[in-house]
Amino acid sequence: MTEPRSISDRPHFGTIAIRTERQINRTHAHIMPIYQSSTYLFDSVAHGQALWRGEEEGYIYGRLGNPNAEATARTIAALEGIRLPQTPYALLTGSGMGAVSTVLLALTSAGDTVISQVALYGATHALFTKEMARRGVQHVTFNGPCLDELEAALEQHPHARFVYIETPVNPTMALTDIRGVVARAHAAGALVVVDNTFASPYVQRPLEMGADIVLHSTTKYLTGHGTVVGGVIVTPHEALYREKLLPILTNYGAVAGPMDAWLTGLGLKTFHLRMPRHCENGLAVARFLEQHPAVARVNYPGLTSFPQHDLANTQMDAYGAMLSFELHGGYDAAVHVMNSVSLCRLAVSLGTVDTLIAHPASMMNFKTPPEERRRMGITEGLIRLSVGLEEVEDIIADLDQALCSI
Ligand SMILES: Cc1ncc(COP(=O)(O)O)c(C=O)c1O
Repeated sequence: MTEPRSISDRPHFGTIAIRTERQINRTHAHIMPIYQSSTYLFDSVAHGQALWRGEEEGYIYGRLGNPNAEATARTIAALEGIRLPQTPYALLTGSGMGAVSTVLLALTSAGDTVISQVALYGATHALFTKEMARRGVQHVTFNGPCLDELEAALEQHPHARFVYIETPVNPTMALTDIRGVVARAHAAGALVVVDNTFASPYVQRPLEMGADIVLHSTTKYLTGHGTVVGGVIVTPHEALYREKLLPILTNYGAVAGPMDAWLTGLGLKTFHLRMPRHCENGLAVARFLEQHPAVARVNYPGLTSFPQHDLANTQMDAYGAMLSFELHGGYDAAVHVMNSVSLCRLAVSLGTVDTLIAHPASMMNFKTPPEERRRMGITEGLIRLSVGLEEVEDIIADLDQALCSI
């Protein structure tokens, strides 16, 4: 939970990443301790009442907030809002899906309509298509890159509550024009929610482009070391934060515990150093794959061959380290490459220090019906790579030997 601060007294990105926890850690411990406690003591009835009434700052009970979650949320808010006039508000959650579900629950009631891109992270897609319907909320989709489709959806559903996007999207890396979505949604009175997990605030900050809510799976780049499942919600709107998001998070209870919050806080201290290396390695691997004879296509926003490279240059500060590539040999070739790599690790998840490789058709999207997979751009020979921080020559050598052995 964060309070706004003026831009004039704000330090630079890396300093924010390392030092923001000091606003909460007022002990003499150099590094913020882990406050592994489920409840907090009141000095007196008057003290307890002051805390409950919000007249005094402090902690009451773990589900309502803890110092580690507050310090980490504040750091992420300061990074997402580095160029905003006021630091936004943020809430740390127990998973990325905890952030998504809190936002969906907070913003919808029975009878509402919500709009999202077609292609979304699998569990988010399930919440929109199954849970929203169960709660009497109508869900309408548009093809992410196509703003005309969004305009048509907004015209047909003029009372839509919000437009939800993910950019770059998993696993095709297709981009959605954040400013274009914001202009159209706001003109129709709808909020804009952006899942910024694939990019991270080092690469892209949607709140600066007018989005109303940014959320993340902090499991990925923000923690960075593969040690935590977590999430965060960031918004510049105080009423949305206090009256909708905070009560839903604390009442439904998808909160982050102290240990996980602390680990994400630790990861954030090197975020500004990890990200440039991630991005450099991502670009080098994408260029290598692009010229490899076994590879039909590489999806990476930093390549000039990427159809939305110009859009990437207008809304991203760097190109990140997520990419996918299509093999000429289809499904069998993809399985062969997956079984032939040794440095790249076979796993879902992404944004960790080591390189992770995944095959959507046999792994995370194996249940998606073929027609829907096609609509999402997930082909049989598509491989997703989360490029890590190893020496890039070693990552390339591993991929090369696997591709050459097809
Ligand atoms: C884009 C995106 N959003 C949300 C999530 C959900 O995050 P979590 O697994 O931390 O709940 C993921 C997980 O991979 C993701 O890739």
